[in-house]
Amino acid sequence: MARRPMMAANWKMNKLVREAEEYMARLLPRVEDSAEEVDVGVFAPFTCLKEVARMAETSRVIAGAQNFYPEDSGAYTGEVSAPMLKDVGAEAVIVGHSERRELFCETDGLVARKTARAIDSGLLPVVCVGETKEERDAGEMWDKVSGQVREVLERLGDISGGELVFAYEPIWAIGTGDVASPEDAQDAIGRIRELIAGIKGREAADAVRILYGGSIKPDNIEDIMAQPDVDGGLVGGASLEVDSFVALVEAAR
Ligand code: G3H
Repeated sequence: MARRPMMAANWKMNKLVREAEEYMARLLPRVEDSAEEVDVGVFAPFTCLKEVARMAETSRVIAGAQNFYPEDSGAYTGEVSAPMLKDVGAEAVIVGHSERRELFCETDGLVARKTARAIDSGLLPVVCVGETKEERDAGEMWDKVSGQVREVLERLGDISGGELVFAYEPIWAIGTGDVASPEDAQDAIGRIRELIAGIKGREAADAVRILYGGSIKPDNIEDIMAQPDVDGGLVGGASLEVDSFVALVEAAR
């Protein structure tokens, strides 16, 4: 089954409202054609998400958040819910980024709850998984990644409509310039797809998109995108400049 590729910008904790507006004003006309063939996502901080979503509304670009809390309302000081994200126009949300798992103590269980709640709320979750350098060197990459994926899948019902996206992001590759080799990206992502097939069936495995993330740049994206199970990228640093993100979107067509 041909899956629609996705190229997603994760701005992380960057950009003021004015900067976000300037970026979107430059990005939208330049990805108009590509967005016919590629899902282009911009995952913005909460503070500029409303402006990003408003500007994206008349395009095919998907506005997304980088996190949320899996209750709809209540006494959760500092948190933002799925209905709040939808209220400002978000269509997608990153779940379980390694920075949230490591810096904010998010567990596999919480990530699974968030994923289920995002789907139930009509948001597309982009669920991040990946191992540390120490885990890879110890031969524990698959133990770690498969555990993260399994916990999410066991929480979900039918996903054969492609209700979620996974992003394989080896932690040692994030922001380091040390991109995974195309073979290592394919190895992990191919195994994730087979795990989905084993738990949810072949149709689901063929429908769920799996991205690679970690030091993606215009000069390394082509070899990564050429891998049969890689459906796109989740991009941090190289998404902050319009020119490099546009180059990545074009490479995903
Ligand atoms: O979500 C994006 C990833 O953490 C990758 O970040 O492209 O800056 O390595 P990076």
